[in-house]
Amino acid sequence: MADEEDPDVPILPDLYKPPALLPIAQLKDQLLYTIETYPVTIVVGATGSGKTTQIPKFCLDAGWCADGKQIAVTQPRRIAATSVAARVAEELGTLLGQRVGYSIRFEDVTSANTQVKFLTDGLLLREMLVDPLLNRYSVIMVDEAHERSLSSDILLSLLKKVLRKRDDLRVVVSSATLEAERFLNFFAPDEGEKVHGKSKEEYGRIVGIQGRTYPVEIQYIIEPTNNYVEAAVDAIMNIHTSESDGDILVFLTGREEIDDTIDLLGDRIADMSSKQQKLLTLPLYAGLPTDAQMFVFQKAPTNTRKVILSTNIAEASVTIDDIVYVIDSGYVKLRTYDARLGIETLNVLPVSQASATQRAGRAGRTRPGKCFRLYTEETYKSLEEATFPEIQRSNLAPVILQLLNLGITNVVRFDYLSPPPSSLITRALDLLYSLGALDIHARLTKPLGTRMAELPLPPQLARTLLSSCAPQFSCVNEMLSICAMLTLQSPVFVAHDGSKAALEAARRRFSVRQGDHLTLYNVFQAFVSSGASVLFCRENALNHKSLVRAVSVRKQLAAYLSRFGVDVSATAVCGPEVLAAGGVPLPERICRCLATGLFAHAARMKGEDGSFVTVDGKTVLWAHPSSVFFHRKAEWVVYTEMLETKGKIYIRDLSSVEMDWLVEYAPEVYRVREGKR
Ligand code: CDP
Ligand code: MG
Repeated sequence: MADEEDPDVPILPDLYKPPALLPIAQLKDQLLYTIETYPVTIVVGATGSGKTTQIPKFCLDAGWCADGKQIAVTQPRRIAATSVAARVAEELGTLLGQRVGYSIRFEDVTSANTQVKFLTDGLLLREMLVDPLLNRYSVIMVDEAHERSLSSDILLSLLKKVLRKRDDLRVVVSSATLEAERFLNFFAPDEGEKVHGKSKEEYGRIVGIQGRTYPVEIQYIIEPTNNYVEAAVDAIMNIHTSESDGDILVFLTGREEIDDTIDLLGDRIADMSSKQQKLLTLPLYAGLPTDAQMFVFQKAPTNTRKVILSTNIAEASVTIDDIVYVIDSGYVKLRTYDARLGIETLNVLPVSQASATQRAGRAGRTRPGKCFRLYTEETYKSLEEATFPEIQRSNLAPVILQLLNLGITNVVRFDYLSPPPSSLITRALDLLYSLGALDIHARLTKPLGTRMAELPLPPQLARTLLSSCAPQFSCVNEMLSICAMLTLQSPVFVAHDGSKAALEAARRRFSVRQGDHLTLYNVFQAFVSSGASVLFCRENALNHKSLVRAVSVRKQLAAYLSRFGVDVSATAVCGPEVLAAGGVPLPERICRCLATGLFAHAARMKGEDGSFVTVDGKTVLWAHPSSVFFHRKAEWVVYTEMLETKGKIYIRDLSSVEMDWLVEYAPEVYRVREGKR
């Protein structure tokens, strides 16, 4: 352990700051006592105080994994689960996947020896399907609960139920802000009632960690700006030329914006004199390849200042040392759901005051720092106090499907931490019903509904994949590849030499008139035929790592189907399948099959400029530049994803369909709509 210092061992680099020096170290005994005594412990402490990395180690030391039980630590984001697991494994001197491991969707790095498991909150929900009481865990820590992610909120509700049945389980909820009382009250029995002999007062405790933080000076801009990317670049250059040493952390909203900023910065850096200290720009966002993530945590080389351009991830989930300057755009990309239109978009919205405070705090971890807010003080005062819980602004269909599969039949009266508006629940039930997952009594259908719940895919894709097994579509092999490609977090096409032209040319090589799904299928096929060749990927501007991942995901999805009794070994090219499908050619069968799941995401092409309108004609959508239909024509399309950037709604992964198919596969949705028009 790092705190048993040996004079002969060279001093470890700063990265290995002994955990004994972390603020949480002095609280070890108190924490262990509290966790042992009370079913629920709420831990509140500033980011970086050691909650995530040290609490699981304390539990190990206490011997709570002795009888083969495990400790689970949930994270709202995959990137946090993997990076923290790596860190803890390193601190314990064990290989990742041995004593310490992680598990995220489609990637399980654990073994029979694993005692501490980091996983996404969504994945722990899935584990409840096979192990409803989560019996394999002695301690479950729900980390970053203050973020109020949809899955962690649902998880807290379910853990409350599990605690009513399991006397031996210990739940730790960790939170960076002061929502502690609310969490504790949620778990505690009602006044006058007892759970396992424990009254409200005896049910849990809050443990606060006194963090060592330094003052952060906050500066606002005087004149509001309408281009915070440019303002951020200016602020970075100002800091670099006129402030003392120290790394910079910039909060932006998304990957594209971060890449743009890095491009802009590149031009400015090129103009810098060679005598000046260097500036090293590093992106940080979900979906960034693991090795690229690691650079962010490494110390900058000598005579170099690091600038990390991050999404909201760096606000609380991951800790980066040596940040002295924070630049806050004042915006965040949040998932919001329009229940009326039934569309989920990622919107760029102003942050809450709580977020702004948390962001500023990142500058004062190791010494006094400065935070530059790219908005005025008046704007700050007008911000919401806290961020809206995700459950109140999301498409609830995926979680409701999970809850129903867990046997929770009354999803309206479920014990939510913050109940979602009833319109969101109704909308989700409607969607699940039209997808065939529910019957008219809102019960899961068998086997379709239960299988949709089991598949680790969003309900619409799960339905598409299950449809592909039907004789009329007979395209299960193709759909497995398409679904696997759609789960990838990073882009499939990448410019290896930075040349956008090469990227576009490669994209064109694989694209077909039916749309993006078949294009993705072509890419996947070509990659497999090349023998997963790295050279092939180089030549075709493809992301080798992503494609390797797609192969693995495809295998896992195929395993689910095999368990459902579907024969996925037969390769449907032509022959009996085509006959079974009434002679309909394969590409059309695939597009029809996509319509059976994606019908609620339909749009009609409007102009020659890549614009579309929603079925009700009220909302304009734009084909994403990566889409085949950015250039080509179609009448109707279905799409997989929608995102909003700078006030424009883009749709991604489009395939051409016919209105007749939509009416055929989703009569209750389209007949009604048609009738209304
Ligand atoms: O969870 P909390 O924010 O309270 O702290 P933590 O994530 O446990 O971090 C404790 C310390 O470990 C911080 O000082 C980080 O510098 C360090 N750490 C790290 O260097 N690399 C990681 N991937 C995670 C943590
Ligand atoms: Mg943490």
